[in-house]
Amino acid sequence: MLTKKIEKTLNDQITLEVYSSSLYLAMGSWFETQRLLNSAQFFYRHSTSEREHMMKLIAYVNREGGHARVPELAAPPASYKSLEAALEMALENEKKVTKAIGAIVELCLATKDYGTFTFLQWYVAEQQEEEGYFQAIVDKIKMIGIKDSRGLFFADKAIGKLLETAPSKA
Ligand code: FEO
Repeated sequence: MLTKKIEKTLNDQITLEVYSSSLYLAMGSWFETQRLLNSAQFFYRHSTSEREHMMKLIAYVNREGGHARVPELAAPPASYKSLEAALEMALENEKKVTKAIGAIVELCLATKDYGTFTFLQWYVAEQQEEEGYFQAIVDKIKMIGIKDSRGLFFADKAIGKLLETAPSKA
């Protein structure tokens, strides 16, 4: 049985996951309008994995006697300054999610909720991987150095390569 405090923090986490899914969906759509189709696929896929994170949390909260809530959210930005700007924004979002997971883990330890602590270990590992993954992409795009449409073409191509090599994480 979850305490009210843990239930609330898990619901807050659901909000973050829903927002992440929505943000990456919006980014995917924008990339599609820019004809950066690999980048669009990358974010569409990532939007789906964020939805899976949300679903896992919903199932856990309800199974443990709480009530998972679906939040009302502000719409994410519809367009972005550039490919780099969107990727940086995604990386910052992942950092925020990692921090939030860490805070719930700390709360679980402080309140001796070892069941939720164990449940969250999957998220700890997942976040570490995701943040590292986004950081690697941002670094790669910086290395390519987008100065014109040719650079943009190669950057999108590099993102496509990443999709091939890490399909489960894109
Ligand atoms: Fe589910 Fe990328 O946070």
